[in-house]
Amino acid sequence: MSNEPIEMSEYEFSKLRDFINEFSGLYFDDGTRYFLEKRLHNRLKLHQFNNFEDYYFYLKYDKGKDEEINAIAEVLTTNETYFFREEPQLNAFAKEVLPEIKSEFEKEGKKELRIWSAGCSTGEEPYTLAILIKQSGLFEGWNVEIFGSDISLRVLQTARSGIYSSSSFRLTKEEYIAKYFEIIGDKFKINDNIKNIVTFGQLNLIDNNKISTIEKMDIIFCRNVIIYFNNDTKKLVTESFYEKLKEKGFLFLGHSETLINISNKFILRHYTNDMVYQKPALTL
Ligand SMILES: C[S@@+](CC[C@H](N)C(=O)[O-])C[C@H]1O[C@@H](n2cnc3c(N)ncnc32)[C@H](O)[C@@H]1O
Repeated sequence: MSNEPIEMSEYEFSKLRDFINEFSGLYFDDGTRYFLEKRLHNRLKLHQFNNFEDYYFYLKYDKGKDEEINAIAEVLTTNETYFFREEPQLNAFAKEVLPEIKSEFEKEGKKELRIWSAGCSTGEEPYTLAILIKQSGLFEGWNVEIFGSDISLRVLQTARSGIYSSSSFRLTKEEYIAKYFEIIGDKFKINDNIKNIVTFGQLNLIDNNKISTIEKMDIIFCRNVIIYFNNDTKKLVTESFYEKLKEKGFLFLGHSETLINISNKFILRHYTNDMVYQKPALTL
């Protein structure tokens, strides 16, 4: 079979784009036909299809469809991430939110902290949070659990390995690298005392059945994920976060992401370093 490009018609584009949106929440607007055509080209070749319509029917009805859906999530997601991304927000987390949580929980005699990094990609975000918690020294002797999830199995493999190259450290202080990583050749391996706090699992954020099995969280980070969704999906995912947060739990979105026109259920807390969404206390 030749490696000639296969053109995607408008009709095929609209079928595939809607299907992808339905299973992943990822939204491809009208200007992205060529992008989708290019990204899916190798999948068609692999299955020896000559046109996108046949591929669409394969995705919809073939017994191998679940595996293929996983495979296209790999080629369509943007997995860019690095340690200590968006510093002002992390300062709000470490210097303002964590001390507040500690003093609130202590009043209630609680010594357990659960954090979810939703759309964690290769794991730099949940490991950053684990490092900041260790650095804070506030939770020694507590049961701290951080759960990282992503739709892509490939990124989770890297996350679980805890091994990174220098491109993941563009904003990391040298002292943190020395303290929390072992340098092996040109790679950096996260220390076990950080790795042990974090677990990973595959989870599609629009799969409500699977999300219903997750325990309630004190803090959710979902940064640079919902920018790829349309408003309907943003609303659906935000509603899940609301459900999964405990009362007064915190939601950290990416700096370009907002709940304006998406949800009015959260309050926006103005800290010195940044603004953070919070689920209000329930009133009886
Ligand atoms: C740009 S990365 C963000 C990583 C990290 N949160 C950060 O801010 O550095 C976006 C991640 O969201 C994941 N993602 C996209 N759609 C998803 C979905 N429906 N369910 C779960 N993860 C999804 C992608 O696979 C990708 O790894």
